[in-house]
Amino acid sequence: MTENTPGNALNVDTVLRGGTVVDGTGIDRRLADVAICGERISHIVEPGSLRFNAVREIDACGKIVSPGFIDVHTHDDNAVLVNPGMAPKISQGVTTVIGGNCGISLAPIVPTDLPAPLNLLGGKDAFRFAKMSEYAEAVDAAAPAVNIAALVGHSTLRVGVMRDVSRKATTNELDKMRELLADCLDAGAIGFSTGLWYKPNAAADIEEVAALAELLSDRGGTYTTHMRDEHDGVLDSLQEAFETANRARVPVVISHHKCAGPKNWGRSTETLPMIEKARARQNVSLDAYPYVAGSTVLEPHMVDPDIRIMVAWSVPHPEMASRDLSDVAREWNCSQVDAAVRLAPAGAIYFQIDEQDMRRILSYPPTMVGSDGLPHDTHPHPRLWGTFPRVLGHYCREEKLFSLEQAVHKMTGLSATNFGLKDRGIVAEGAFADLVVFDADTIIDKSTFDNPTLPAAGIDHVMVNGQIGWSHGGHTGVTGGRFLHRH
Ligand code: ZN
Ligand code: CU
Repeated sequence: MTENTPGNALNVDTVLRGGTVVDGTGIDRRLADVAICGERISHIVEPGSLRFNAVREIDACGKIVSPGFIDVHTHDDNAVLVNPGMAPKISQGVTTVIGGNCGISLAPIVPTDLPAPLNLLGGKDAFRFAKMSEYAEAVDAAAPAVNIAALVGHSTLRVGVMRDVSRKATTNELDKMRELLADCLDAGAIGFSTGLWYKPNAAADIEEVAALAELLSDRGGTYTTHMRDEHDGVLDSLQEAFETANRARVPVVISHHKCAGPKNWGRSTETLPMIEKARARQNVSLDAYPYVAGSTVLEPHMVDPDIRIMVAWSVPHPEMASRDLSDVAREWNCSQVDAAVRLAPAGAIYFQIDEQDMRRILSYPPTMVGSDGLPHDTHPHPRLWGTFPRVLGHYCREEKLFSLEQAVHKMTGLSATNFGLKDRGIVAEGAFADLVVFDADTIIDKSTFDNPTLPAAGIDHVMVNGQIGWSHGGHTGVTGGRFLHRH
């Protein structure tokens, strides 16, 4: 290196000095100085081995320097526009979110009527993007604190194209949806998602889903699915997901994998071997969050008297957010089902997962971390603010479910590979400078089910595309996020 003659210091924008690099690939940590020029990492060298003349110097001694976390399962499509600071995510060290999961995406429709679960993406005025290209422009104009990559939701397509979503799409409707999906993919969307458990999506069969998913095949996109049944029919649903992906010749991600409901607790001993077997034949991966509760809309048929259900939001009764549904029913002197009817439209938190299943799924090596946080809820599930530090602090450091290198890999390198996010999820020369500096000894989630919006502890700095957006518990006023186009 000619620039490295004595006396010649290298001009760079930022240098992170003396940190312990956990690079996202899963390999052992090492000490290094990391230099950033513009939006990319320019040098990774042994501490002190090169002289840098940096605009900004950060002492990272004793701290971990890792790739920024990739939240593979989000519903942040509208949040990046209306709340571009994205505090719930950047405060955790997240630098990229993947939106459009579970069959619901903001683009490509401007609907007149919004059935659940599309209302999880914010109010009716959230939906104003007839094209993915318009959404991408809006994201860049909003300059969010984190990057977003977009999936196209099947429910969104159905609601936009079909008069009656309670049946299978006609050939004509399918052609229309294929056209819309192709246009979104050409505008940079990274894949397609279904939420077959939800009403607007449930009438679609394997044939309909595969006819859409196959558009990803030559374009290199990913298919993600909130399966038809995560309860008693979880094995059949896994089979359906594999078969759909197989027909469409695309990689599939099983979203927020769980065995839901007390009757199915323990069944991850069946589902994981089934996933492992499928992985020998085709590209299958999965994501999970580190909690024993899920969260989504609240509808009467979702009420299970055998589990605790907590109200997250309600349009007619916002005052009931954070209360247990059983409490509300008692106060109103009615059944929980009737209470759910009166609360609708509403959302809830369901304590439907067994801790042992969750641990088994989270520690399964192919499992990525995704929060599934719901940013518009009045009283959100704590996963919105706590997922990544909880994996690193509680399940890695305290419970020793996996090494720090493995934990970081599950939230960075593995995720970038599965979703085709080029030059991200890794600390390497030439990669984008999406980085987190954190303290492995103190990192921990602070948000709880009672107090769900507290930022995590132990995150020192978060850099997105070379810009430090978050430092020591607060925004810096600089934002580096953008819409990530499929490569
Ligand atoms: Zn889902
Ligand atoms: Cu979801």
